[in-house]
Amino acid sequence: MIIRVRCPVSPHRQLYGDFRTATMLDRERMCIHSAEIHQFSGFPAGQIPQRVLFAAFFAYDNRRFSASSGYQNIKRKRIIMDILKAIEERRSIKSYDPDHRMTEEEIQKLLSYTLLSPTAFNIQHWRFVVVKDPELRQKIRDVSWNQAQVTDASLLVVICADLKAWEKDPHRYWQNAPEPVQKALVPMILSYYKDDKQIERDEALRSCGMAAQTLMLVAKEMGYDTCPMDGFDFEKVGELINLPDDYLISMFIVVGKAVRPANERAGQLPFEEVVIYDRFEEK
Ligand SMILES: Cc1cc2nc3c(=O)[nH]c(=O)nc-3n(C[C@H](O)[C@H](O)[C@H](O)COP(=O)(O)O)c2cc1C
Repeated sequence: MIIRVRCPVSPHRQLYGDFRTATMLDRERMCIHSAEIHQFSGFPAGQIPQRVLFAAFFAYDNRRFSASSGYQNIKRKRIIMDILKAIEERRSIKSYDPDHRMTEEEIQKLLSYTLLSPTAFNIQHWRFVVVKDPELRQKIRDVSWNQAQVTDASLLVVICADLKAWEKDPHRYWQNAPEPVQKALVPMILSYYKDDKQIERDEALRSCGMAAQTLMLVAKEMGYDTCPMDGFDFEKVGELINLPDDYLISMFIVVGKAVRPANERAGQLPFEEVVIYDRFEEK
C-alpha cells in the first residue's frame, strides 16, 4: 500500500510524496529509509535529505495519528485488550511439561518486566530467587507437600523481601529524581519504617503480592502458565535457599508449559459481596 503525503517544509514550499507502508512500520523503530520512499517531488528518488524525510513523516504522522483520533488510541486499546485477556486467561496451573525449560532470555524478560511493579517509596525490596538446580528443586518439593509443580514447572521463583531494604542506602531508590525530591523523600523513608516492624512486614507482603501478579501476567503474555504457591514449610525453604536474616519469603510462583488446563473456576463470589461503595455498613 502506498500512502500519499503532503508536507509543508517551509512557508512557501510544499512537498508531495508517496510512502510505502513499510516506511510506516519503520516509524515504530524511529528510523526512515529513503530507499523506501516511492517518489517525492523536488528530489530524485533516493536523494531526499533525512531532515525532509523526518519533516514529512512527522507531518503525516501528526495529522493522521494524532492522540485524539488515531494511532495512540489504537495502540492503547490493543494493549488494554491484551492485559484483559491475560487477566482472564491466567489460572493456577498444577500440571507442567517437566521437559520444558525457559531460555535465559525469556527469564530475563519475565523478571525485567516484573521489576517494574510498584513498591512504596520505590524501595524495591523484593528479591526473586530463581531456583535452577534440579536437586534443590526436589528438596524444596519435599517440603512443599510434594506438590509436583515445584519440580515439573520450567521455573520456580521464590519471591522474598528484604525487610531492611529501607535503611540500605535509600538514596539509590531516588537517584534519578530531581534533587529537591530526593531531599524530601529519603528522610521520609527512614522515619516511616524506623522502629515499626509491622510496617516493614506489611509493606513487604504488599509489594511481593503486586510483583507476583505482574510476573504471572507477563508470563501469560509470553505464552506460559503459572501457579502462585504458599503450600510449603517457610522455615525449611528459608534454610534451603540460605535466606538471610531480616528477609522473609512471600510465596513461590512456578512458571511453565501446562499439560493440563485448569478446571472451571471454582466459584466466584458475587460482585455485590466483595465490592463496597464508600463504606461498610454500620456495626
Ligand atoms: C497466596 C496463594 C497461595 C497459593 N498456594 C497454592 C499452593 O500451594 N498450591 C496450589 O496448587 N495452588 C495454590 N494457590 C492457587 C489457588 O488455589 C488459586 O489461585 C485459586 O484456587 C484460584 O484459582 P485460579 O488462580 O486458577 O483463578 C495459591 C494462591 C495464592 C494466591
